[in-house]
Amino acid sequence: MIKGEKIYEGKAKILYKTEDPDILWQSFKDDATAFDGIKKGTIIGKGVANNTISSNLFKLLKEHGIESHFMEKVSNTEMLVKNVEIVMVEVVVRNISTGSLCRRYGVAEGIVFEKPIVELYFKNDELHDPLMNDDHVVALGLADQEELATMKNQALRINEILKEFFSTIGIKLVDFKLEFGRFHGQIILADEISPDTCRFWEMGTNRKLDKDRFRQDLGDVEKTYHEMMQRIVRKS
Ligand code: C5P
Repeated sequence: MIKGEKIYEGKAKILYKTEDPDILWQSFKDDATAFDGIKKGTIIGKGVANNTISSNLFKLLKEHGIESHFMEKVSNTEMLVKNVEIVMVEVVVRNISTGSLCRRYGVAEGIVFEKPIVELYFKNDELHDPLMNDDHVVALGLADQEELATMKNQALRINEILKEFFSTIGIKLVDFKLEFGRFHGQIILADEISPDTCRFWEMGTNRKLDKDRFRQDLGDVEKTYHEMMQRIVRKS
């Protein structure tokens, strides 16, 4: 497989063409942003950690019947992925209250929800990714009813699989964001699953093991990404 022309550069990843129009080359960067890109920085080793963690979690999900865009890890910071058409809806699943949910609804951090909350956001940087409901998604033509149902069902199933996996390595899966794409008429999981897109709290201590260490200046940012990678790799 040949790494071709760059077709997209986002905050944390770059996508390149390959000789196969169905396959892209996804490269993970060490660059980090938070608060809508206002806070910028570099987390040395983040690209390696996020590529490794995402590869392992996509493989785990595949073993449980969840299809994703992941094909193969090709280097420390790169993977081959299916060339999906990204659905412009971010699906967030929350098991424990924190982050924007606490700010929006004025609730304390750390409430364990009896049933996970699924939220939908319009993937639009200019509009700062506004929260939306099912009707907005369908009315604005971002996805049809059936695609939306698939994304929400898969998100809940993924939550069950990941919650179980992380519990075996002493970690609570607090919340996470997923993106999906269309590939030959099918909705499949895309993007990444990493400490950039999930919140992980250590069982017993509630030590934050994710990008909140960067967002909130908690220190040990590089060490934390490395630790998460090691914990996941050891168990995978
Ligand atoms: O900030 P908020 O509490 O809404 O984030 C919920 C979850 O979604 C967190 O795990 C966060 O890392 C993730 N997220 C993301 N990309 C965004 C917004 C949130 O990965 N643009």
